[in-house]
Amino acid sequence: MKVGVIMGGISSEIEVSLNTGKEMMNHLDRNQYEVIPVVFNKPEELVEKVKGLDFALLALHGAYGEDGTIQGMLETLGIPYTGSGVLASSLCMNKDLSKKILRYEGVYTPDWLCWDSLDDYSPEAVERLGYPVMVKPNSGGSSIGMEKVNDEQGLHSAVLKAFMSDTDQSILIERYIVGQEITCSILDGELLPVVGITSASSEWFDYSAKYEEGGADEVVLTLPPELEQSVRRAAMTCYKALKCSVYARVDILLLDGDPYVLEVNTLPGMTSTSLLPKSSAAAGLSFSALLDRIISCSLT
Ligand code: DAL
Ligand code: MG
Repeated sequence: MKVGVIMGGISSEIEVSLNTGKEMMNHLDRNQYEVIPVVFNKPEELVEKVKGLDFALLALHGAYGEDGTIQGMLETLGIPYTGSGVLASSLCMNKDLSKKILRYEGVYTPDWLCWDSLDDYSPEAVERLGYPVMVKPNSGGSSIGMEKVNDEQGLHSAVLKAFMSDTDQSILIERYIVGQEITCSILDGELLPVVGITSASSEWFDYSAKYEEGGADEVVLTLPPELEQSVRRAAMTCYKALKCSVYARVDILLLDGDPYVLEVNTLPGMTSTSLLPKSSAAAGLSFSALLDRIISCSLT
């Protein structure tokens, strides 16, 4: 089977994508798959590059990769691919819309505002929401363009920064919750071991904490049974409500024993420091076995 590892792209997460792709290339079983790297930096060139593939292993993150656009192209070309379909991919990429659905489903998520342009700028609205807040691109990833803001003074520059780094030009102002950060990976409808995160030198899990060796401590947690139940329920509700398939990673903050969902990643990072491979390793699945499972689930 000719498996193309699709990586690169044009989103702000290009470096992460290249590292995810590299890690996947290193771990795909060459006895089973003919592995073909497919690196692109212009979406329009991809149609030509994927011709002849039997399967597309998506190592993409962010716009033109995680947001349903490439999934739609592959559907049209009849090439099977890893992970969620078009709808779930675009929903999960849009934090505002996915949070609205999660609220409807009774899943806790921090209060937020969504602004579509600078015309929406309103320090009064943020004051009502309550500081501190996280200002972030609505459809970003890997904490790029994101900033914690403690008071009105820092608001305008953080808002400009978030607007500049988002491809769909809307931003989120979200209540900052001080809590234990955890992440729940789901594979083929099953929750993998929960991983807790402690950032080494950053106040929150920012880009350097995520991707620098030693940037964060990530340990598999054994939660008290009741908490484990509510975390499991929240993560699985997200996965189902947002129509995810094959695999996903749900990022959560624990506050006073309640899980607050931040977002759902349909193509979570698979770099050497990423969370999903750690979680699957704790479940006894090597990186290669994880890729096999992702491919076989995507084909059924
Ligand atoms: N957006 C990055 C790749 C992640 O969530 O892992
Ligand atoms: Mg993300």
